[in-house]
Amino acid sequence: MCDAPIGVFDSGIGGLTVLREIRTLVPQETLFYVSDSGHVPYGEKSPEYIRERCRFIASFLLERGAKALVLACNTATVAGVGELRTLYPQLPIVAMEPAVKPAAAATRSGVVGVLATTGTLKSARFAALLDQFASDVRVVTQPCPGLVELIEAGDLHDPALLALLRGYVEPLLAEGCDTLILGCTHYPFLRPLLEQWLDPSISLIDTGAAVARQLQRLLASRNLLANGPRGVDRFWCSGEPAAMQRVLPLLWGSAEPVAVLPGN
Ligand code: DGL
Repeated sequence: MCDAPIGVFDSGIGGLTVLREIRTLVPQETLFYVSDSGHVPYGEKSPEYIRERCRFIASFLLERGAKALVLACNTATVAGVGELRTLYPQLPIVAMEPAVKPAAAATRSGVVGVLATTGTLKSARFAALLDQFASDVRVVTQPCPGLVELIEAGDLHDPALLALLRGYVEPLLAEGCDTLILGCTHYPFLRPLLEQWLDPSISLIDTGAAVARQLQRLLASRNLLANGPRGVDRFWCSGEPAAMQRVLPLLWGSAEPVAVLPGN
């Protein structure tokens, strides 16, 4: 039993789609969330740059007593999780990966589409995932530059966002994809938009809930679950706190104070 916080981070607000799954599954836990909004997007940045950000944010969260880390970011995972696991071998670290395995099991057309950042799709980790789980299906990948920035702005009804999204998704549908992997933690925010115009036979898959379950299993196996009443949520960002404060009511569901990440 341990009431220390769980540290969760992303390049921006995308990790909130994972944080909400964690909050629902383990309401007793205290959750510390860092949005690296001063450095968003990660998608087009070098692995070295992202690794440096991962080290910096991980050490900030550990200094505040985090008992576990969640890399709520596919792009940070492919660049940085290996190094963090080497630096902190005893620490429970949970990370993201695009849902290739469940998508390969779910597709009926045999064609799976992956929406993700350029960094994720170019990585050796993603190639290994395809080798392991996608040998019996065809996988069509679609990098989505520009999408994260528009989601960060918090206006999910922006016509420019819808136009960009359609431009990325329509070629996947033309290829015969019946299952689309939302391989970036920002994209589950687009689910309601996508469901408005996609045929209901198209499945959208992300791994937020699976990551929350994995975190719960890992904490339970080390006797680290909190057992108090509801835990608290605290938020930091490396960019402009007012910008994050503005989108939290829309994308997290409540107004929250946001502190500046020291030394960001
Ligand atoms: N939310 C992130 C991911 O899961 C990163 C997006 C970005 O900063 O480009 O990949």
